[in-house]
Amino acid sequence: MTSILDGRPALAREVEKVAEVAGYLWQKGWAERNGGNITVNVTEYVDDEIRRMPAIGDRVELGCVLPNLEGCYFFCKGTNKRMRDLARRPMENGSFIRIVDGGDAYEIIADAPVKPTSELPSHLAMHNYLLGKGLDYKAALHTHPIELVAMSHTSKFLEKDVLTDLLWSMIPETKAFCPRGLGIVPYRLPGSQELADATIEQLDEYDVVLWEKHGVCAVGCDIMEAFDQVDVLSKSAQIYINAKCMGYEPDGMSKEQMREMTLAFDLPK
Ligand code: 13P
Ligand code: ZN
Repeated sequence: MTSILDGRPALAREVEKVAEVAGYLWQKGWAERNGGNITVNVTEYVDDEIRRMPAIGDRVELGCVLPNLEGCYFFCKGTNKRMRDLARRPMENGSFIRIVDGGDAYEIIADAPVKPTSELPSHLAMHNYLLGKGLDYKAALHTHPIELVAMSHTSKFLEKDVLTDLLWSMIPETKAFCPRGLGIVPYRLPGSQELADATIEQLDEYDVVLWEKHGVCAVGCDIMEAFDQVDVLSKSAQIYINAKCMGYEPDGMSKEQMREMTLAFDLPK
């Protein structure tokens, strides 16, 4: 069977990265059943032949207009598809879509008519928002990291920047590699436009947001960068929880140590 990836090594490389990250999500235990989703804006790798490819399914209304995405192309995990399957067979468990009609609909163009993730509203809202700001973000990731979700089950961690400060203070690398911290989105129905709207509200300040009692969403220049940010936050959450399991509240790095590190790595305050 022919594939859109045939003869397009740069596009194939993007899909390989998605598959690699999908495998990590499964190995981490963050991707039960079909949990989590990935979308990557691949428009820069699209040629005239792809632009002429006919849709292989019906045109689907987005229910909102995303003007910055008109004519953009995305590789998306399929809804109800497993990350562990996306890792091994990405083109059977994901598909390429094209945004059409001024940004209010999409159509699937390759390889198989795999319906995109149910979290498409949030993913596309994030891509649209970031493109509108002229930022070079291409990838969006949603996953269910155990410790971070557990920490979202108490209101004390849902106050603005409480969790960011706590997680940053667990190990110096967390602020270094997730310098914008963790935004908070109060519980909203999965897949809803309300969840999408609340998520993009956080993106002015944060690259990673915690969806209360559900998971996290991260954006990055590529999917590896989005994954790495969730990974460092999750490591900090594990350190915190391990300390609590040993029966004590961890001290965390002191304000002075945080200040020193922020200056040394030239990080935002
Ligand atoms: P999908 O299978 O539709 O991608 O949904 C998984 C999920 O995590 C929803 O929040
Ligand atoms: Zn989810």
